[in-house]
Amino acid sequence: MNDHLSKVINCIKDANLKGALMRREDVLTGFSGHALYGTLQRLSKEILTKETCYLEIGVFQGLTLLSTAMTSPEHEFFGIDNFAFFDPDKKNKQLIEERAKKLDITNIQLINKDYEDALENLSTYIGNKKVAIYFVDGPHDYRSQLMCLLLIKPFLAENAVILVDDSNYRHVRQANRDFLITHPEFKLLYQAYTEAHPANLSEAKKEKVVQGWWNGINIIYRDKNNELDAFYPETIRDRSLYENEHILQAIRYPEHLHLMWRIFYKFRLIELLKFIKKPKAIFQGKYASGNTYSEGLTEGEFNKTVQAS
Ligand SMILES: C[S@@+](CC[C@H](N)C(=O)[O-])C[C@H]1O[C@@H](n2cnc3c(N)ncnc32)[C@H](O)[C@@H]1O
Repeated sequence: MNDHLSKVINCIKDANLKGALMRREDVLTGFSGHALYGTLQRLSKEILTKETCYLEIGVFQGLTLLSTAMTSPEHEFFGIDNFAFFDPDKKNKQLIEERAKKLDITNIQLINKDYEDALENLSTYIGNKKVAIYFVDGPHDYRSQLMCLLLIKPFLAENAVILVDDSNYRHVRQANRDFLITHPEFKLLYQAYTEAHPANLSEAKKEKVVQGWWNGINIIYRDKNNELDAFYPETIRDRSLYENEHILQAIRYPEHLHLMWRIFYKFRLIELLKFIKKPKAIFQGKYASGNTYSEGLTEGEFNKTVQAS
């Protein structure tokens, strides 16, 4: 196994055991787990060079970007966010800048753009640098997840490491699998899942995922030397789910479906389903939102080549 890959594996193992390298919870809050940003921090220290950089999609209020940047002040960190979600008062960008100032962090650049616009013109922002660590934590719909992986390809360093957050979601795992199976040069190196989205967990269970991998992780390695086994995250090939999505898009008012669904929930119209014969069978074990379908998946598993070494 090459030295670079061994370093990456050790970063993941170490973060799993010891969590974050540095934490500033007095300043930094957000949506991430200690093992996750502990891995980002260790990778930054171990594998970034003068010619490479860290890139993140989905900065929110800066927990992962700033936590990682503060551990490696000599390297460059870029974060893309259009601040379209979880930012009703439009304060997140300013908050990140204030937090960076408070923590004396001067090595980050925010790219306030939709991820597609930013990635299509990435050299405008990162110049000649290559992306050695790519953290995907932006929009989680299937197409965006896949596009985040496809559009970054020309900018990746030789042995780039890609971390896809929220891989608890089945459609995120599907996008990862679709990418991996069509790009054999990239291999799944590590996967870890939690029982549900943290918002759907009890306080005690939530504590465990805050210490760990939050809402599931897939770590992908650009395996130029073909050292790793072919390995894919678990998905189901459910034609009734994925292909019927076309039917929803092709109706007369597809863009209003989301609004209709919210009204349906808000006014408890769902209660009407009581009158359907077997509502329990339909809804048992499901949450109002944030259903991940990750129950029973592994809490942590390396690629078979690593397990055998
Ligand atoms: C789950 S949050 C990221 C959490 C963050 N990494 C942290 O440390 O707390 C997802 C972020 O993705 C951003 N986002 C969603 N869709 C986007 C898009 N199309 N382009 C760029 N950013 C987007 C949202 O504005 C939001 O801030």
